[in-house]
Amino acid sequence: MNQALTTKIGVLTVSDRAFRGVYEDRGGPEVRNWLTPRIPNCPPFEMRIVSDDRSLIATAIEEMAADCCLIITTGGTGFGPRDITPEATADACEVLIPGFGEKMRAKTWDQVPTAILSRATAGRRGTCLVINLPGNPKAISECLDVIWTAIPHAIETAGGPDLEAEDAAPAPHDPPEKSPS
Ligand code: MTE
Repeated sequence: MNQALTTKIGVLTVSDRAFRGVYEDRGGPEVRNWLTPRIPNCPPFEMRIVSDDRSLIATAIEEMAADCCLIITTGGTGFGPRDITPEATADACEVLIPGFGEKMRAKTWDQVPTAILSRATAGRRGTCLVINLPGNPKAISECLDVIWTAIPHAIETAGGPDLEAEDAAPAPHDPPEKSPS
């Protein structure tokens, strides 16, 4: 049976223009809509928008990590003059987990060569897993398709809850399933 979780999932949109209301944030809702059907005991979401400001991004991650088992950021991962999300993520995290960004770039490169333009990283703050995604809604689903399998186990490794996601990879220490006789 699914147990209600006391934690939350944070979605942090990083965009000057979405923050100012110049355009509607489509990245944050895309992340929430992608995750919701995949997590049977899905906890509530905390949605925030900040401008491309290193200290505001880091502070938002620090505040959200106090209540969240997972924070997905979207936007600000490129190398434009204002793109600073990976550095802010490093500021807020105790350890970095580069494999998530590496896998996103490597696996989506064949479909979208501009995937290489993202400097997205990931890390852990306390018991919270923090993952950067690009801001484009199409890029969000392409990248989540690639890394999702590792996310539930990474949350547990960080000390977070079991999301009971059946389509995720089993933890390496789980006993192998018996083959039907
Ligand atoms: N990755 C995938 N899978 N699909 C994409 O369309 N867009 C790229 C890249 N990563 C993209 C992608 C582009 S065009 C940019 S500029 C960078 O992500 C950075 O995006 P961001 O600044 O919105 O984070």
